[in-house]
Amino acid sequence: EPLVITDKAEMREWSSSMRRQGRTIGLVPTMGYLHEGHLSLVREARRRGDVVVVSVYVNPGQFAPSEDLSTYPSDFEGDLRKLKAVPGGVEVVFHPHDLYDYGQRQAGDQVGGSGVNSDNVSVSCLEEKGLGHETWVRAERLEKGMCGKSRPVFFRGVATVVTKLFNIVEPDVAVFGKKDYQQWRIIRRLVRDLDFSIQVIGSEVMRDHDGLALSSRNVYLSPEEREKALSISRSLSRAKSAAEKGQVNCQNLKDSVIQAIQEAGGKIDYAEIVDQESLEVVEEIRSPVVFCVAAWFGKVRLIDNIEIDV
Ligand code: PAJ
Repeated sequence: EPLVITDKAEMREWSSSMRRQGRTIGLVPTMGYLHEGHLSLVREARRRGDVVVVSVYVNPGQFAPSEDLSTYPSDFEGDLRKLKAVPGGVEVVFHPHDLYDYGQRQAGDQVGGSGVNSDNVSVSCLEEKGLGHETWVRAERLEKGMCGKSRPVFFRGVATVVTKLFNIVEPDVAVFGKKDYQQWRIIRRLVRDLDFSIQVIGSEVMRDHDGLALSSRNVYLSPEEREKALSISRSLSRAKSAAEKGQVNCQNLKDSVIQAIQEAGGKIDYAEIVDQESLEVVEEIRSPVVFCVAAWFGKVRLIDNIEIDV
């Protein structure tokens, strides 16, 4: 039976007591509505740490007001059940009510928001609610492309909440999925750049039996949309085979993926082949790259990627 902690101070207390006993802590940050992809990270954390903390928190700081914060799926009881069923279980589920509740207001805290801040930059649901938080962690270059282009406040929200979780939980190891490849790279980089002494593990993409990358948002796909969405993983794996057979021209590879997804009725947000480390766009595959795609099927935006090491 995992211990459910909702209070930041209590979470810190628990972590320091573990540390005093010389036990290492593995952390798996999630937004809940857990599926087999999340659980694979939990199993990885189980192998890497003496005790495991899974955080379940839908972070308003990484959603734009126009995005799906209010409809993001949740099932906390179900999540607890799934975590209990993982071999070895988990010690703690950290489920804070509000990570941005600092108890008291300060000068400069806004009340009510306009959708943009004083620099006219678009804001997240957090600022829109007028809460008093203004310090953000950004990975300036890594957050620019791909998901950062269509979701300009997303990665600063992710980097900031993950920094908060790192400071509250103080894990030795944190596990992230390569399903969110850009996110994983940004977290690795922020841990290095801000001198966190945390080992960041990237865990492989978990897929359904037919190849669809598991995602909490898949529940919003109709059966027909789900079938069409298979064009993403299928075309990506064809592109990888083509690259391995010598097709190193990225434009050609991208064209075939874009065409396959569009023919299935998907709307491409981006299809990019980028360096695995720097996430810089490459024209020809000469070093390890990752082919990343985001596409809309109906009202659902899906992302997927495949690493190509040639
Ligand atoms: P969430 O989408 O719930 O994902 C939590 C973790 O599970 C992330 O590290 C994500 O990459 C991983 N994950 C999701 N689907 C996966 C799959 N099919 N295979 C492998 N791993 C998968 O990502 C977030 O939450 C948030 O941005 C968060 C990091 C918690 C910050 O709020």
